[in-house]
Amino acid sequence: MSSINEISELANQWSDPSTATKFAISERATAPFAKLMLQKTHLTHPEGKVNILDFACGTGAVTAAAYAAIPKENWGNVKILGTDVSQPMLDFLKFRGEKAGWSGLETKIVDGRDITLPKETHTHLFINFAVFALPPSTVPACAALLQPGGRIGVSSWKYAGWHTIVERAVARLSNPPTVPSYDQLFDVIHDGRAWDTPEYVTQTLEDAGFIDVDVVIQKERVDCGTPEQFADTMFMLMGLIASFWEENKRADLTQKVLRELKKVVEEEIGRDGRFVLEFEGIVGVGRKPE
Ligand SMILES: C[S@@+](CC[C@H](N)C(=O)[O-])C[C@H]1O[C@@H](n2cnc3c(N)ncnc32)[C@H](O)[C@@H]1O
Repeated sequence: MSSINEISELANQWSDPSTATKFAISERATAPFAKLMLQKTHLTHPEGKVNILDFACGTGAVTAAAYAAIPKENWGNVKILGTDVSQPMLDFLKFRGEKAGWSGLETKIVDGRDITLPKETHTHLFINFAVFALPPSTVPACAALLQPGGRIGVSSWKYAGWHTIVERAVARLSNPPTVPSYDQLFDVIHDGRAWDTPEYVTQTLEDAGFIDVDVVIQKERVDCGTPEQFADTMFMLMGLIASFWEENKRADLTQKVLRELKKVVEEEIGRDGRFVLEFEGIVGVGRKPE
């Protein structure tokens, strides 16, 4: 897996300065769980050829973890298809793969709301921190893409530590808007489903026909970078928070909150310090019957 510095450097070298670059940096939070999914689906010691689908791959946290876990001499046995609805994400992943020599990697636009990939193709399929944004039909549709005996891994958030710091930043504005509660925000993120409970993850995998379902919760202390980098990655979540505010005030308030956010963190750890937040992820794995 790329280290924090490697991925930041790669993001800086890339020509697209917008969303995907910021996502690449936010991989700091998703990458530890990608690694866990690979361990729990036995991908760290694969026997024979593997054909992985990194679904809603973003900038490729799962793909990077797979190439890091599998010894380089076995890369000839590895095929990975990274799919996402966003072309800039796929462009970044392609660029990243070319730099790293991931010769078995291909990318393709696939919308989780309408999956048109060939059936029974993949030995492993992963959806890292995206399944909650996709419709309930996605996990059964993904089951159909796996070969018999193939393994799935999905992940979701049980807890993400950024809410308190956003509240502190908003409270410093002269006429602060109401910050939606943590539960309100996660209700939107999880589309009203209980993706923050292991029971729901288990049920979803079992309902899609998976056996040997195993769900774990893991805490991670995540290095979210310098105050400036952290504020940058919060730009996307601010879009969600601002959706609770009056439309004509959103853009202005978002800029003000991001400025305050950077200052609050700077006061706490200094301009060049590293801001660490706690995240708790749920990882669920299962196997398709033979
Ligand atoms: C939080 S990111 C996770 C990315 C990556 N899997 C990781 O572990 O870092 C969520 C990803 O889901 C993708 N996504 C959102 N809606 C989608 C859809 N309808 N179909 C496919 N991908 C989607 C986004 O473009 C984004 O790349």
